[in-house]
Amino acid sequence: MLIGIDIGYGYTKVVTENNNKVVFPSLVTRGHDRQLAAAWSQGNKDLLENLHIKIIEATGYKEYFVGKLAEKQLSSSFILDDNKLNLDETHVLLATGLTLFLPEGKHQVKVATGLPLEQYVHQKEQFESLLKSFTAEVFYVDFAQKKYVEISDFLVFPQAAGAIYYVMMSDPQKYMIENSYVGLIDIGFKTTDFVAFSVNDTFSLEEELSGTVDIGMSDMLVAADRLYTERTGGSKLATSDLLALVGKGKIFYQSQYLDITRELTEVREYIARTIQNRVKGVWAEKFNLFSTIFISGGGGIDLFTYFKNFHPRVTLVEDAQMANAKGFLKVAMSRLK
Ligand SMILES: Nc1ncnc2c1ncn2[C@@H]1O[C@H](COP(=O)(O)OP(=O)(O)OP(=O)(O)O)[C@@H](O)[C@H]1O
Ligand SMILES: [Mg+2]
Repeated sequence: MLIGIDIGYGYTKVVTENNNKVVFPSLVTRGHDRQLAAAWSQGNKDLLENLHIKIIEATGYKEYFVGKLAEKQLSSSFILDDNKLNLDETHVLLATGLTLFLPEGKHQVKVATGLPLEQYVHQKEQFESLLKSFTAEVFYVDFAQKKYVEISDFLVFPQAAGAIYYVMMSDPQKYMIENSYVGLIDIGFKTTDFVAFSVNDTFSLEEELSGTVDIGMSDMLVAADRLYTERTGGSKLATSDLLALVGKGKIFYQSQYLDITRELTEVREYIARTIQNRVKGVWAEKFNLFSTIFISGGGGIDLFTYFKNFHPRVTLVEDAQMANAKGFLKVAMSRLK
């Protein structure tokens, strides 16, 4: 089986060649028995809500909650380290993403994945050696299923390249405008990658015009956290409540709603403006030579409205959050078959 997997700082995205796809938060905590919760939910066996796994090792096993189940734990927090390849959490997300759609038993998979543009040069080899030797035996506790996965082949891309491949390959002629450029801005959780391609007889990546802006949707959580603490005189929120506050703009505190909708809108505008200024700064006088600028990433969905006047042909990629994973898979289908 071929699998495209994009382990983002905020959300892990997985697509398979038989068109299964999921998004789950890139959150991992220690796992434990959940008898009370199990009694409460009674047979609610939605896989994504119940990623309670044991990773079996030679000398025993380690138990984890992953994704939405981890999000509910008070101890969960997003990890924003520049290099996360050596972290247990990353291995757990990879093991989960690769086995999620597999039936029970032993399987070999081919994997296409990526790294943020800025990390690609320095971490590609490290990621490849991780993938080369990666195996995992995963027991899905709530489903009593054991799955063993080995990686037989793999490809590692710069992340935004996945998304641009995904859109351009769907209709290459449309963007084959001689002597023009095509751009893509992938707005993620921790960072925003932008890439530019020059179009002549072929598409070529323009390294000078590509880069990373150190801003993303996690800034919304940081702002909500700060505002909540200020307004309540020092209280703190768990990750799940912070996510809810960012999502709804308000949260019940003591006897009334604490509403930060307006402030969150300002943060959204600020993030969008910062990205636009940085990208425009780099593209400079070439900006007018772009035929299309694509916006992708989960953050792209949230911020697209602020990009409508950025350029005459700015387009939100379809299924924008999954675009990298889908692009990785597409390339894998042609190269790893
Ligand atoms: N249905 C959704 N589920 C989760 N996040 C969503 C959804 N719709 C929009 N978003 C936004 O997408 C953001 C995450 O985007 P994305 O998954 O592209 O980031 P990431 O790839 O994990 O981050 P990075 O690229 O920095 O590693 C969230 O912070 C949220 O603002
Ligand atoms: Mg991403």
